[in-house]
Amino acid sequence: MAEEEKYLLSMKNIVKQFPGVMALRGVDLNVRYGEVHSVIGENGAGKSTLVKCLIGIHQPTSGEIVFEGEPVVIKNTAEALEMGISMIHQELSPVEHRSIMENIWLGREPKNKFGLIDHRKMYDMTKSLLKRIELDEDPAKEVAELTVAKIQMLEIAKAISYNAKIVIMDEPTSSLTSREIETLFDIIQKLKENGTSIIFISHKLEEVAEISDRVSVYRDGNYVGTREAGHFDIPELISLMVGRELTDLFPKESCEIADVVLEVENLTSYGAFEDVSFTVRKGEIVGMSGLIGAGRTEVVEAIFGLRRIDKGVIKINGKPVTISSPVAALEHGLAFLTENRRLTGIFPMLSVSNNVVISSLKQCLGKMNLISHKKAYSFVDEFIDMLDIKTPSVHQSVENLSGGNQQKVLIARWLMTQPTILFLDEPTRGIDVGSKSEIHRLISDLVGEGKSVVMVSSELPEIMGMSDRIVVMHEGHVTGIVENHEDLTQDELMLYATGQKDQFNKLDEVS
Ligand SMILES: Nc1ncnc2c1ncn2[C@@H]1O[C@H](COP(=O)(O)OP(=O)(O)OP(=O)(O)O)[C@@H](O)[C@H]1O
Ligand SMILES: [Mg+2]
Repeated sequence: MAEEEKYLLSMKNIVKQFPGVMALRGVDLNVRYGEVHSVIGENGAGKSTLVKCLIGIHQPTSGEIVFEGEPVVIKNTAEALEMGISMIHQELSPVEHRSIMENIWLGREPKNKFGLIDHRKMYDMTKSLLKRIELDEDPAKEVAELTVAKIQMLEIAKAISYNAKIVIMDEPTSSLTSREIETLFDIIQKLKENGTSIIFISHKLEEVAEISDRVSVYRDGNYVGTREAGHFDIPELISLMVGRELTDLFPKESCEIADVVLEVENLTSYGAFEDVSFTVRKGEIVGMSGLIGAGRTEVVEAIFGLRRIDKGVIKINGKPVTISSPVAALEHGLAFLTENRRLTGIFPMLSVSNNVVISSLKQCLGKMNLISHKKAYSFVDEFIDMLDIKTPSVHQSVENLSGGNQQKVLIARWLMTQPTILFLDEPTRGIDVGSKSEIHRLISDLVGEGKSVVMVSSELPEIMGMSDRIVVMHEGHVTGIVENHEDLTQDELMLYATGQKDQFNKLDEVS
């Protein structure tokens, strides 16, 4: 009893069984008052499942939850919120065609004396909430117009608006840049000072080391152990997570770079980007760097036929092409792993197998030009092996996979189209360290086979570890195209990304 009183929350011996999957095999989590407690582990380790048992989305198959010294059963999210437990979810699912303020206060809007929604008050409440998280947006703006990063900040605003005793953050930083992450860390600090506890889930171990008071590690549904701040280092955390040491994070091999395959000249989509020019050569990885909102994703969308082009030329193998739809892009040998996978990638209800083969049905044709399931499954099995996708079978609905494994399914889909030029937007977001280096190895192999890769990433170490050349953008313009070499520093890239240096405008000579 005395033991329990130290903790705000004790989850004891939690078991969670899904049909065909043992997600949690009897794990513990003890959270102190006012601490940041990180939960780490590989994709599919059971992190989200564990916190979903706490927020009432799942019921544990067995085990006990003690909150503020009392054993509790949490039947649904409303009950959890009532008790003071709120959560920022890993998969963002805002109501797109509602405003920011409606999304935050949905179902608990402030009312006036007539019992009607008090829009003025809701607006003001939202304004001050947004100010707390330093998000400069109009509360009346439709959520559909926001970038992924801003939607994530919005989720954070919503979670803290409940004044909870414990806030669960399931990969809150996966779409944020360093500046927003700093803001989030400030918020976490303030929550802590008010005595709020935080459960923080992340694959970014540098962040975990920076922010945590304690870290608990899980592997394959088992609890591995807990470490106190100051008593662990990142290599130790990695070996606890994956059960082995990892050395080579960026296994990029040098390969022969040949002719130009893609030329983009003065590409312009007013309102998004202007006069963007760069080339991509056979066997080359071109990194696209810049801050959120620089226009990188928009450029790739335009090339892939998903965005209006007002001006400029795209050439593939020297010939000008007009790509008016993703289908046309596929026919030209392009593939695009999008950034916002929930909205534009995954078909959650469909099986793993259908999600993989959906863009490559031609390859699955058998006798009499009918789809051969046998053929399809053998392709899919190969990808499951190659990418180490954790799923009980090819028939599992994708929505039942862990976040990182959903991501791998999409990578498999695009690899299966056998593209010659592959566009990857934040390819390792939400991917654990072990699989991350596997995906990097795969990208390196692809260019080794003579393909080309354009990789948008907000992670500078990833950009610098993998790219041959780096296109840096700032506010819709290309500010620099730099050869990646050993002397290149993150600081130099940041100068271009923040617009302080511009190769093409010679701004730097003026200042
Ligand atoms: N609703 C569900 N039905 C069936 N299986 C599920 C369901 N939810 C999760 N699982 C399975 O439980 C295991 C743990 O998944 P979970 O989402 O908790 O992993 P995670 O540690 O959060 O991984 P990630 O880092 O990829 O987000 C996985 O094998 C997953 O496929
Ligand atoms: Mg998860």
